[in-house]
Amino acid sequence: MRRAAAMLADLADIGRDTRLGGYSRPVFGGAEHELREWFAAEATARGLGVETDPNGILWAWWGDPGPGAVITGSHLDSVPGGGPHDGPLGVVSALLAVDRMRATGHVPQVPFAIAVFPEEEGSRFGVACLGSRLLSGSISPERALSLKDADGLTAAEAYRSAGLDPERVGPEPRRLGQVRRFVELHIEQGLGQATLGAPVAVAESIISHGRWRISFRGQGNHAGTTAMADRTDPVVAAARTVVDVQVIATARPDARATVGRLQPVPGGTNVIASRVDMWLDVRHPREEVTAELVEAIRAAAEGNAALEGCSAELVEESLSPTVRFQPALQRRMKELLGGDVPTLATGAGHDAGVLSADVETGMLFVRNPTGVSHAPEESVEDDDAEAGVKALATVLAELTRGSEERQIR
Ligand code: GLV
Ligand code: MN
Ligand code: MN
Repeated sequence: MRRAAAMLADLADIGRDTRLGGYSRPVFGGAEHELREWFAAEATARGLGVETDPNGILWAWWGDPGPGAVITGSHLDSVPGGGPHDGPLGVVSALLAVDRMRATGHVPQVPFAIAVFPEEEGSRFGVACLGSRLLSGSISPERALSLKDADGLTAAEAYRSAGLDPERVGPEPRRLGQVRRFVELHIEQGLGQATLGAPVAVAESIISHGRWRISFRGQGNHAGTTAMADRTDPVVAAARTVVDVQVIATARPDARATVGRLQPVPGGTNVIASRVDMWLDVRHPREEVTAELVEAIRAAAEGNAALEGCSAELVEESLSPTVRFQPALQRRMKELLGGDVPTLATGAGHDAGVLSADVETGMLFVRNPTGVSHAPEESVEDDDAEAGVKALATVLAELTRGSEERQIR
């Protein structure tokens, strides 16, 4: 049987970013397309029936689709310059869990599939978990299709160029209604497990999080002829706000707030910008605190803009509530994996979080020895990846035995 590390090595050259380091695999781009083809080939070689649904989610069915389905899977898109495991580890582990179940003679007694979700990171169109949000109806197709990437291309155009019909994008209650449970395996993205010394953990919750865009507007002008006193420079307002974001979040225990992307317009060395777009990511275990933090940052941005004679406008791009994974499924996974498997909250978002509003969801985390993620240095030990596959196969075999109802309640 192949090891997870060997299968991940097959993907090592796909979407490598020589400029940023790590991997850049934006949804529906060349690298993500190649990964989708790779997944379809691996699933087909295992006798799974592969289909792409109208939202661009790949499904690989072991047997026929139908009600009461158990699903596993993750995503293949990445952040710019991301690590090799965020997403692909869950997909690779799903394929290898099928091999493991087969090797023991297991045959699912309920419909079973691996799903691969597009645009989990939201790094191309700005809204994270776009595929699962569309499937579940938590974003309207009109809004999703009008989202634009950095080149001004709409999601509608990207769907079309990926061979999908934008007219068919949108909620699929019948398809989602067939899914009973979803278990996603994912690399842990902090130091939680490394601290606990556990190769595998069960996810307990995802903290609330969202993304906002703040646009600062001033007067574009000449860097050489405009006296310092005569400027309305939005870059200065944005810079003061970046510092305020850090100060505001540091003052609230458990808060996280990040400015990871800033875009001065037009962006010339000898040009005072006319506008700066700044993207903000804010997270806290309590939704009301996330909202308070954003309001404090809005006030700071407006104050900083006023100081520079500029304006500031804050717009929400996406918001995800706090998610608590199904307690009975958490308990059952812990029993199956041995009582010493820890449960862990995470600050990272996942398709499993989005789907938890409609489906019984759970997650397994695989230890990340450095805690680094969304960066080229992200890593997993080979033996830990193997432990993850084993744990996933154990859980999926139990959930697809068809007689688990008694034990899971
Ligand atoms: C995705 O990994 C996120 O938490 O933003
Ligand atoms: Mn991920
Ligand atoms: Mn990620």
